[in-house]
Amino acid sequence: MNGFETIAYEKDDSGVVRLTLQRPDVLNAVNLQMRDELWSAFEAFRDDPDARVLILRGAGRAFSAGADISEFGTTPSYVEARRARHERDLWGLLVHLPKPTVAAVHGHALGAGCEMSLLCDLRVASEDTQFGLPEVSLGYIPSAGGTQTLPRTIPPGVALSMILSGDPIDANEAYRLGLVHRVVPRDQLDSAADAWARTLTQRSPLALSSAKEAVLRGLDLSLADGLALEGRLAGILLESRSR
Ligand code: COA
Repeated sequence: MNGFETIAYEKDDSGVVRLTLQRPDVLNAVNLQMRDELWSAFEAFRDDPDARVLILRGAGRAFSAGADISEFGTTPSYVEARRARHERDLWGLLVHLPKPTVAAVHGHALGAGCEMSLLCDLRVASEDTQFGLPEVSLGYIPSAGGTQTLPRTIPPGVALSMILSGDPIDANEAYRLGLVHRVVPRDQLDSAADAWARTLTQRSPLALSSAKEAVLRGLDLSLADGLALEGRLAGILLESRSR
């Protein structure tokens, strides 16, 4: 896909899409244009039957240093801003993609940068990564899902202390807490993410999407309802295999 300025979208023959945040001069800060372009890219990935796995990565020396601070306070109307967010739930689109997503994270993963990685299914980080949610120290709260995804990923008390303090943690601590699945040297980050993605392209797309739905939707259900959901999804899979 061409025509993007703040991101790059590349699909290879195996169906792996590499989506690269591409504002390296500002550490891939997420501005309004990047939000719009990410929206189009996530939709394109979701709707392309040949696109199997998404890798989200950052160009330059950081994954992303979060929302673009230079745009803070520039919104003409808060009502309009809230309406736009509601109509275009970018982070909901990412977390509900029915295909696997892998975040390949390095350098800084702060604010929305950290939150974007938490909205992906798998996270591999290079040893130099710092993860943090500094929004409260700026008078905001995380609003790319971080107050919900972080306590669902690491112990809630630790998540709360990260959100209240804004203090970042390093990659090894993130691994110890279960925030990332793998930590690798910086020069192996891309190959590690690629290898993971290629493995996933060998799996049945329907099995992957069903497993993802069972886990993510199940987190919001009682055990009984979650088991019922799992049973329904397993039934659909069995039926599709017997056709
Ligand atoms: N929004 C807009 N610009 C940002 C940015 C952000 N979130 N984060 C970094 N930048 C810009 C800097 O202004 C700087 O631009 P300049 O070269 O024109 O001055 C450039 O990116 C490089 O950042 P710099 O601060 O010089 O790099 P550093 O290595 O010294 O520090 C950070 C890196 C990540 C610690 C620091 O940039 C930082 O604290 N950024 C803000 C992080 C943040 O609060 N994010 C959450 C927003 S809710």
